[in-house]
Amino acid sequence: MNKHMENKILNKTSTLEGISRVDGRLKVTGKAKYSAEYSVKGITYGVLVPGTITKGSIKTLDIKKAEGAPGVLSVITYLNAPKVPGYQTDKPQAKGMLKIFYDEQIYFNGQPIALVIADSFERALFAASLVTATYNVEPHQTDLIKNRSNGFTPRKDYSRGEDDAYKNAPVKVEQEYFIPTEVHNPMELHAIIARWDADDKLTVFDKTQGIKATQKNIAQAFKLPPDNVQVTSPFVGGAFGAALRTWPHEIAAVLAAKVVKRPVKLVLSRADMFTSVGYRPLTWQKIGLGATADGKFVGITHEAAGQTSVYEDFTENSVNISQLMYASPNVTTRYKLVSLNVNTPTPMRGPGEATGAFALESAIDELSYALNMDPIELRLKNYADTDPLSGKPYSSKFLNDAYKLGADRIGWSNRNQKPGSVIEKGWLVGYGMGAGMFGAYRGSATVLARMMADGTLLLQTAVTDIGPGTGTAMVSIASDIMEIPAGKIKFDLGDSSLPPSPTQGGSSITSTVGSAVNDACKELQAKFQELNGTTESGKMDYVQILKKHNLQQLEVTTTSHGGPEQNKYAMYSWSVHFMKVLVHPATGVVKVDKAVSVADCGTIISNKTASSQIKGGTIMGTGMALMEEAVIDHRYGRLINNNFADYHVPVQADIPQVEALFVNKPDPYINPIGAKGMGEIATIGVAAAIANAVYNATGKRVRDLPITPDKLI
Ligand code: MOS
Repeated sequence: MNKHMENKILNKTSTLEGISRVDGRLKVTGKAKYSAEYSVKGITYGVLVPGTITKGSIKTLDIKKAEGAPGVLSVITYLNAPKVPGYQTDKPQAKGMLKIFYDEQIYFNGQPIALVIADSFERALFAASLVTATYNVEPHQTDLIKNRSNGFTPRKDYSRGEDDAYKNAPVKVEQEYFIPTEVHNPMELHAIIARWDADDKLTVFDKTQGIKATQKNIAQAFKLPPDNVQVTSPFVGGAFGAALRTWPHEIAAVLAAKVVKRPVKLVLSRADMFTSVGYRPLTWQKIGLGATADGKFVGITHEAAGQTSVYEDFTENSVNISQLMYASPNVTTRYKLVSLNVNTPTPMRGPGEATGAFALESAIDELSYALNMDPIELRLKNYADTDPLSGKPYSSKFLNDAYKLGADRIGWSNRNQKPGSVIEKGWLVGYGMGAGMFGAYRGSATVLARMMADGTLLLQTAVTDIGPGTGTAMVSIASDIMEIPAGKIKFDLGDSSLPPSPTQGGSSITSTVGSAVNDACKELQAKFQELNGTTESGKMDYVQILKKHNLQQLEVTTTSHGGPEQNKYAMYSWSVHFMKVLVHPATGVVKVDKAVSVADCGTIISNKTASSQIKGGTIMGTGMALMEEAVIDHRYGRLINNNFADYHVPVQADIPQVEALFVNKPDPYINPIGAKGMGEIATIGVAAAIANAVYNATGKRVRDLPITPDKLI
């Protein structure tokens, strides 16, 4: 990092609030257009018909009534659907994404068996109710706990030091933990409008986290050149992993538009969301944790079994956090997958790590009570100064600063080590904490930066913004470098015809695209300096320079990615969450009274959007801890709470006060802007922090989420 950059970062860290969301006004006034909201000439409406068995095959399908219903244009099933050219034609379906309307096989309850297309949504919905089917029913398995012994090992088990060394430690805990399925339910339903512009040209307005990935996936499915598929998605109403991949309903809409020769809009229903776009998989875990009498870890053994579908092996890092988070000479991890008659899970914020951290950070809390030691002190005793997995130095780690910041702010000194000993206004009071970590990544992105004659700076790249405020962060970076007001900068995104950017996932976009914006702006600035014959990087009058040289604009297109430093250092973001909870002794109701989440994720680009991101993650983790649970009735293999009346998520009244704090020290190696990711660490560790606080309040250790009142009374 050169001196100039260092100064920039230092200046940046002194910025207080940061700019307001560049698209905030559009969003709150309803002017932001989401995928289902485009008015497309000749639009038609699709409604999916879910199958009603859990395993077997379709025997008969009756679509006559539906076809004859008013306004119906077509009813697509596996019997009449045109072939999707990119589907491999092995029979039955080979492992891979569910091939929609491919054959008679049923792999899970709710699998679509037909798509009705009509001239209005209401008519399509009515006609969908007229489709009937009979089935050859086979016995299904949907219960992970019952089938745990049938799991297989998708990845090699991990071991350093001695296997299961915790067993011989002077002090140990050995416990099982359980998280239920959590279903993706962002406010915006998944939606796509598909329109064929020519036989080999297609436009989709689609909810997606990956513009270029969606373009590629749809192009592959329909055997088109990628450039012939236009993907438009400038606004996304929340996505936490569910829009990382291209799902069967997207293929179905494109197929349907081909059949009816008109544009088709397909919006999933809330019930569809429970079976169509993945979920955080139900996972069983076991931790064995051993320490010396003074709290030094002797060994950690972390085992997990997660569920997946029969047609895909969805594998996540549920046990990896135990390999990484603390300095322990002996670590053993084992991970199994169990194939069940369910739809495939998908990443959900902190995929794997959020699951694993619930078990690990709960177990450490249990150990702290066994040792009668403050849980922060116990963690500091086992603090890793280099990456325990690779032995490499960290690019940056200030987790100890985060512990201190958070402990001070929550009032950790008010915590009583003896559970159930503090009562305020008739409520039991408890304090708890849990830490998190996630890889800090930097990919490759291309950004066009163009200075116009009127002094407006245009930035373009094909990234999406699923909510964190990507545009805002990019404008903020550019404004800082170019020394022009944010209001003079326009950031175009969400369009596949723009220069390529990666999928928004893995907390990597500010690092990746932010660095590309940084590099593009610096290059543009250098071009101006060259024109102007100046060398210092003082404030420049871009408008005057353009005018002097008779130019309408000056632009650069820059591709930016990491270098060898990516391999030299272990790069992670870190978080710690502190909770003060109240538990009602008679009813078992848990209220989060105060939450303080602290992130060590390098330079904070925009304090406002970063705070929102952390708060959102804390709230999501609160849902995981206290409410969210998709329940299958295993007799039928069907979800029984596939709606917002029965599937609970936190609302305003559940979350009185969340504070987000930042260490805000630049990472000197990850990229030129010093910023690491924060999306995932916002949730990782939260559920354990709440469970630990509940234990501190009540003396009851709940190891199976969610912590509902019945488990406390
Ligand atoms: Mo995130 S789980 O990479 O959307």
